[in-house]
Amino acid sequence: LHIAVLMGGWSSERPVSLMSGEGVAKALESKGHTVTRIDMDRDVALRLSEAKPDVVFNALHGAPGEDGTVQGMMDLMGLTYTHSGLATSVIAIDKELTKQALVPQGIPMPGGRIVESASIFQADPLPRPYVLKPVNEGSSVGVAIVTEEGNYGSPIAPDARGPWQDFERLLAEPFIRGRELTTAVIGDRALLVTELKPKSGFYDFDAKYTDGLTEHVCPAEIPEEITAACQDLALRAHRLLGCRGTSRSDFRWDDTQGVEGLFLLEVNTQPGMTPLSLVPEQARACGMEYPELVEAIVAEALA
Ligand code: DAL
Ligand code: MG
Repeated sequence: LHIAVLMGGWSSERPVSLMSGEGVAKALESKGHTVTRIDMDRDVALRLSEAKPDVVFNALHGAPGEDGTVQGMMDLMGLTYTHSGLATSVIAIDKELTKQALVPQGIPMPGGRIVESASIFQADPLPRPYVLKPVNEGSSVGVAIVTEEGNYGSPIAPDARGPWQDFERLLAEPFIRGRELTTAVIGDRALLVTELKPKSGFYDFDAKYTDGLTEHVCPAEIPEEITAACQDLALRAHRLLGCRGTSRSDFRWDDTQGVEGLFLLEVNTQPGMTPLSLVPEQARACGMEYPELVEAIVAEALA
């Protein structure tokens, strides 16, 4: 097949996407496919129409490759592409819209509220501890955990000029003490549960992409009931949102509360495909090597 791998772009996750895209491109070449690498810019439509690929592998992270914009463009152009389509992407990129879609269906997610970024400099939007995050970023960009003692992540003070002004909408959620879990869905199957144990205590951008800063325990050493609940919730969320190819659902689990302490944080429709990324790691633990994973995602797009 001739496959165009879309990567890069101009989101805050550009470097992550370049790593994902290069990994995917090499894997496809190792399987004998012809690959055109496309670092996305404003001329992307022109370059795609010149390339005339059989299928586009979307290795973009963040807007506009994960929020429906690029998906809509490819729909208009009549291109076949991997991962979720327009409507799913619009909802899943936005953590507040995701809650509005999933909570009424019985998926447990943390409460919380949208805050105007200016108002957080006046007062705490929620009782501490809470998490402050842009509604539509990935890789923990712009996320702060505000505790009684202070905060991890970006500094917060009444007159602070934090990075939050750069973001359109912010979400404040109660911080769930306990453990960080994640489950990948490929095709119609939930894989395993991975527990992330960042050495710093906070699974932020550096902890995600610097080798050695986070221990990945896969399969997670948690009760069978919690593993089953993560798998069930990840698969239900994937189906309810209409995800395609692959998705990865991230959870917090308060391990003093049993299954009642498990909360879905978000569904990632363009999960990372870098060497340290979680979907490839879970696939490998299930006996599916990286090139087979990439081909399986392509096959679902063509099905
Ligand atoms: N946003 C990053 C790429 C992830 O979900 O893996
Ligand atoms: Mg995310």
